[in-house]
Amino acid sequence: MQTDALYNLTHGIYILGSNDDKRPVGSVVDAVMQVADKPLVIALSCRNNSFTKNCIEKNGSFSLSVLGQDVNPFIIANFGFQSSINVDKWNSVEYLTENGLPYLKECLAVVFCKVVGTEIFESNTLFVAEVTDCRSLGSGTPMTYFEYRTSFKNEVLKFLPNILNKKEKNNG
Ligand SMILES: Cc1cc2nc3c(=O)[nH]c(=O)nc-3n(C[C@H](O)[C@H](O)[C@H](O)COP(=O)(O)O)c2cc1C
Repeated sequence: MQTDALYNLTHGIYILGSNDDKRPVGSVVDAVMQVADKPLVIALSCRNNSFTKNCIEKNGSFSLSVLGQDVNPFIIANFGFQSSINVDKWNSVEYLTENGLPYLKECLAVVFCKVVGTEIFESNTLFVAEVTDCRSLGSGTPMTYFEYRTSFKNEVLKFLPNILNKKEKNNG
């Protein structure tokens, strides 16, 4: 099986937001799609080692901030390459909170969801979730996972040494 063929199934890029009761948590996700429009339902797949996934399992709700092509690459480095277990990722960006769910102040749109079904696989947990609210926040073209992988990832990787240094300092 040529699993690279699956890269042709492309998605957008989002900042997933939730909370662990004391603080907001989050990660980068691309495995998101709308699967029904009555009611409005989306599917989200989280890796089982994601701390954000654990929080969503506990509190049953999350936000998605839709990223545009002009997103600051630091945002993807910050949310996608370190875990909320060790870092308060939202402290490094401008954000707002609604019903305990954090979302980016600057993004194309925000979607708030509540989980109505869960399916656990060996690697990932699939959340089926009803959209409780959503709105557009900016104009622009959504970033796709294809664009991220083929060109934007290089810009994101430039921020990784900074992030790792900061973590070492925090740990030390
Ligand atoms: C472009 C990109 C796409 C990603 N897509 C997903 C995804 O769909 N689901 C997921 O669980 N993790 C995805 N990740 C990985 C998580 O963002 C990453 O493991 C993060 O550090 C998890 O943080 P957490 O432990 O705070 O939840 C993606 C990362 C990047 C950079």
